[in-house]
Amino acid sequence: MSALKILVIPGSLRSGSLNARLAAAAAHELALAGAEVTRISLGDFPLPIYDGDLQSKSGVPKNVVNLKRMIGAHHGVLIVTPEYNSSVPPLVKNTIDWVSRVQDAHETRGQVFRERAFGIAAASGNRLGGTRALSALRLILAACHALVVPNQLALSFADEAYDDTDRLKLAADSEALKALVRQLIEFSQRIM
Ligand SMILES: Cc1cc2nc3c(=O)[nH]c(=O)nc-3n(C[C@H](O)[C@H](O)[C@H](O)COP(=O)(O)O)c2cc1C
Repeated sequence: MSALKILVIPGSLRSGSLNARLAAAAAHELALAGAEVTRISLGDFPLPIYDGDLQSKSGVPKNVVNLKRMIGAHHGVLIVTPEYNSSVPPLVKNTIDWVSRVQDAHETRGQVFRERAFGIAAASGNRLGGTRALSALRLILAACHALVVPNQLALSFADEAYDDTDRLKLAADSEALKALVRQLIEFSQRIM
């Protein structure tokens, strides 16, 4: 059987991003659990804000097609999102909006979401750890008919949570990440 492939997408471009660091920790755990991991930066897929007129005039940007195919080449996806004003940041929402508008010739709309498992995580400097962003993201992905695994990780006080190598310092945080990773792998294998 071919290796289980998981794509990890941090939802922040900021240097020193707390969510990029959590994505790094998650990628490490996924690899330890036997997955073949690809960790990308959305900075490599710059996109305009979704605009139907733009799509009608110029079509879907190449970066959307590339990103959608990148997702399609994996069995599972982990999105690690910041929380902005109790929801997901525009980078994350805009990316999902664009990807939800494309399909390859043999596909139906949204197939790329329907046919793979999604895990979600957030990191924030405050006590709630981005739980409201996770609720919003779960809803958005459900609207795209994605299978979102039940476990999730909202990492509180994330500015204190990592060591120098971006591993989680607290056992409770590390266990929560492992539980999410295990479940994402399990659900991804089911639809492999
Ligand atoms: C516009 C804006 C809104 C924010 N709103 C929230 C919020 O609702 N909840 C929260 O926990 N943090 C909020 N924050 C703080 C972010 O969680 C914090 O900046 C975090 O470090 C961003 O993620 P990053 O480090 O991965 O870039 C907000 C930050 C910005 C810039």
